[in-house]
Amino acid sequence: MSRNDIINDPSHGNKAEAFEAFDDIPTNPNLGNTIGDVINRRYGRRDVMRGALGVATTTALFGTSAMIAPRQAAAASAADSRYKFDELAWGNDETHHIADGYDADILLRWGDPIMADAPDFDPQNQSVEAQLKQFGYNNDYVSFWTYDDGRSVLCVNHEYTNEEVMFPGLGRQDNQDFVGMTKDLVDIEMAAHGGSVVEIAKGDDGKWALVKDSDLNRRIQPYDTEMTFSGPAAGHDRLKTADDAEGMLAIGTLNNCAGGMTPWGTYLMAEENFHGYFWTDKLDGEGDPDVSEQAEAASMKRYGVPGRWYAWGKYYDRFNIDKDPNQVNKWGWIVEVDPQDPTSTPVKHTALGRFRHEGAETSVSPEGKLVVYSGDDNRFDYLYKYVSNGVVTDDRAANSALLSDGTLYVARFNDDSSIDWMPLTHGEGPLTAENGFNDQGDVMIDTRIAADLLGATPMDRPEDVQPRGDGTAYVMLTNNTRRKPDQVNAANPRPESSFGHIIEIKEAGGDHAATSGTWDILVKCGDPTVADVGAQWNPETSENGWFGSPDNAAVDAEGRLWISTDQGSSWAKTGKSDGLYSLETEGDLRGHSKLFFRCPVGGELCGPYFSEDNETLFLAVQHPGTDGTKDIPGFERNSTFEDPATRWPDFADGMPPRPSVLVVIKQGGGKIAV
Ligand code: FEO
Ligand code: CA
Repeated sequence: MSRNDIINDPSHGNKAEAFEAFDDIPTNPNLGNTIGDVINRRYGRRDVMRGALGVATTTALFGTSAMIAPRQAAAASAADSRYKFDELAWGNDETHHIADGYDADILLRWGDPIMADAPDFDPQNQSVEAQLKQFGYNNDYVSFWTYDDGRSVLCVNHEYTNEEVMFPGLGRQDNQDFVGMTKDLVDIEMAAHGGSVVEIAKGDDGKWALVKDSDLNRRIQPYDTEMTFSGPAAGHDRLKTADDAEGMLAIGTLNNCAGGMTPWGTYLMAEENFHGYFWTDKLDGEGDPDVSEQAEAASMKRYGVPGRWYAWGKYYDRFNIDKDPNQVNKWGWIVEVDPQDPTSTPVKHTALGRFRHEGAETSVSPEGKLVVYSGDDNRFDYLYKYVSNGVVTDDRAANSALLSDGTLYVARFNDDSSIDWMPLTHGEGPLTAENGFNDQGDVMIDTRIAADLLGATPMDRPEDVQPRGDGTAYVMLTNNTRRKPDQVNAANPRPESSFGHIIEIKEAGGDHAATSGTWDILVKCGDPTVADVGAQWNPETSENGWFGSPDNAAVDAEGRLWISTDQGSSWAKTGKSDGLYSLETEGDLRGHSKLFFRCPVGGELCGPYFSEDNETLFLAVQHPGTDGTKDIPGFERNSTFEDPATRWPDFADGMPPRPSVLVVIKQGGGKIAV
């Protein structure tokens, strides 16, 4: 990621969960496809949700003895893996690779027309008008959902843009003060951000394909998509701006990294590195932004605003803190979109806090409460979860209100392997006017500062958090090369961690809404044959199976964990491309990993998302040909539009690399890795 190189603060991706296959789901909602059934399928809580929705409570599906297996590997063989596929050989080259016996086909590429009247992609003559009707850039989060009416959608985040490989004759702009960035190019960048909702359907050949003329197809972007706010910061004075006296309007969403789906089928888009889009002309003696004269100076410093990663603020006052400083408080939230209503207004739910949200994966507690996990992707920042006050029901509008009525918690990982979830509630503890918090809106706008005061545990860059229906959650901690030896703790045990680790949380009582639990380190990433790395894997893990920089995660319909990686420009530390790995969490093979898919050079892997029947897997390859290309033997230079490290996936003369979503199926059909 080019902007990560500047701030040295990478990552990406997204996640997954199980779904309903197009041809398996009942089309009549009266035939039993209630919200309880949806929750049971997605979260494996059949008995529990029966309780939540009006009957008795029993043990969660996954809360069985199989989950209490020995933590230490005994005599186990990789041949006993629950993931039935032959692992792929590691490497790094111009194209993607998938394990034998599987197809990984391109489904959607940057620039593909997704509206009936959209023009064909023409990278030599791109325009904002075209981009607004075409698939966006840098696909990250992907979800797949089939509604009661039988229609299926993909929801895809478009995290950011790489001008040097998008536009002819430009090259990298961030290191030359954006001299080549015109307003027309900025507009195209804005239109290429955000998200896409597209209907897909299975063709006669059994393959999923875009329904190009679907009325559900929609682009959501920061160019002109109007949004509103809910929760404690909605209408707050600190959200009032030149274009919005009510503090209720945002123009779009951006840097949407990972996300989530709610149990009722709405799409959550996380706003991650929003700070990078803000501009100032005021620089200090070092050439860094000077916010000392700003009323919001303390908050801006804690959030890294303005990042000056893009030239948008040169052309739009709403991205220029010299002109409209409160605009920064409109970003860094979780956005809810209803894919079933293409005219609906997306909502930024401020009750989930403001930070660099990596994602927003959901679960449902035994009581029926909505739980949303979210990491703040920054070195030494925190892990959060939100718990609704009410319970999920069949009432879709009421369910959406759960996202504005609940409690946000931040995690403290104790060295005795316990975890405490501390509420961010105005008036409690240090969160008072004395410390600058006049109301709950202030607590949400300055979530990071509130969490600092509560003594949350600074983590090694929390990325995706993947809950499973049994009260377990897996936390991707991607790396942190700046942690010094005197800053390590049990949950972040390695100084100068280049490869990251994964923590497993077991919430008390198997209840995702619990305010305490236990944690354990599942793996410490990196090469297990290099003693200095200090890696921890199951000893059966092969040279192909270990990885670095976990980023996104998914749990498939079999309850098995999968991990995708984003090493950024430091990929040469492993020599491997980014990819998708199985990662065993149970039994003697706990901590055993196998490579299933790998990216073309310079790309990171996002998604993954499994269909509920486990027969289809959606993957997203982000920024092919850009990250760390100086370290590619024989290439050893930065990619440009004219001279990219790869022209994946088209490999056509003159066509730049194109971020793309892939669909993976087993040849001949059947469940993946079963
Ligand atoms: Fe955009 Fe933290 O990955
Ligand atoms: Ca990510």
